[in-house]
Amino acid sequence: METIKEWVTHIDFNGDQLVNGPRQLEWIGQGRSAVVFRIEGTNHAVKVFYPRFKDLAEKEADVYRMLSNHDFFPQLIKEGDGFLVLEFVEGLTFYDCLVQGIKITPEMVKQVDKALEFARSKGLNPSDIHLKNMMLTPENEVKIIDVVRFTQEKECTHWPDLKKAYYTYYQKRYFPKKYPKIVIELIIRLYRKHLLPI
Ligand SMILES: Nc1ncnc2c1ncn2[C@@H]1O[C@H](COP(=O)(O)OP(=O)(O)OP(=O)(O)O)[C@@H](O)[C@H]1O
Ligand SMILES: [Mg+2]
Repeated sequence: METIKEWVTHIDFNGDQLVNGPRQLEWIGQGRSAVVFRIEGTNHAVKVFYPRFKDLAEKEADVYRMLSNHDFFPQLIKEGDGFLVLEFVEGLTFYDCLVQGIKITPEMVKQVDKALEFARSKGLNPSDIHLKNMMLTPENEVKIIDVVRFTQEKECTHWPDLKKAYYTYYQKRYFPKKYPKIVIELIIRLYRKHLLPI
């Protein structure tokens, strides 16, 4: 842990931009509040929050503890100042599935529903369930990998909207199952501007 802490202190941010990081940390993804690295040679990931979102680490760790290491979520290994060490989830985000043309099945949708139901049973309010926050593992299990906004009170309609789009359009036989990133990004933008009939 001491070493991970040292590596994390060597990460160079410019605002929300990652400038540089130690070679032991392999970049795997980033979002609006953090950058995530795989710790070289391990099955652990470290989620490092941008400096202005540092306080979210403690908040997200609390949510993980409430989820008591259920299989639907990555395990929380350790918590540090502005970062979390998590189980590295092997697999693809649902976003990657759309890009690579890997079919999103009704079973995957059901698994997400179950995961969210479980979170609700723990008194949480699952929020911000979007394509890059759900993953499919090589064992065909679904994992929800970002729980930082599960304590917000405001109702989030991302998942009900995604589900509606899934059953209304995606499930149709002739509806394409593979998309260039630029098309998905455009659809996301239109959705955020409430310009889609969902
Ligand atoms: N435990 C993990 N195992 C594997 N990949 C992960 C893991 N956690 C995050 N990632 C990757 O890193 C990306 C960013 O992580 P995360 O969603 O936690 O960041 P965020 O800033 O909270 O995102 P958001 O924009 O949704 O708020 C994910 O979309 C995913 O590709
Ligand atoms: Mg995310």
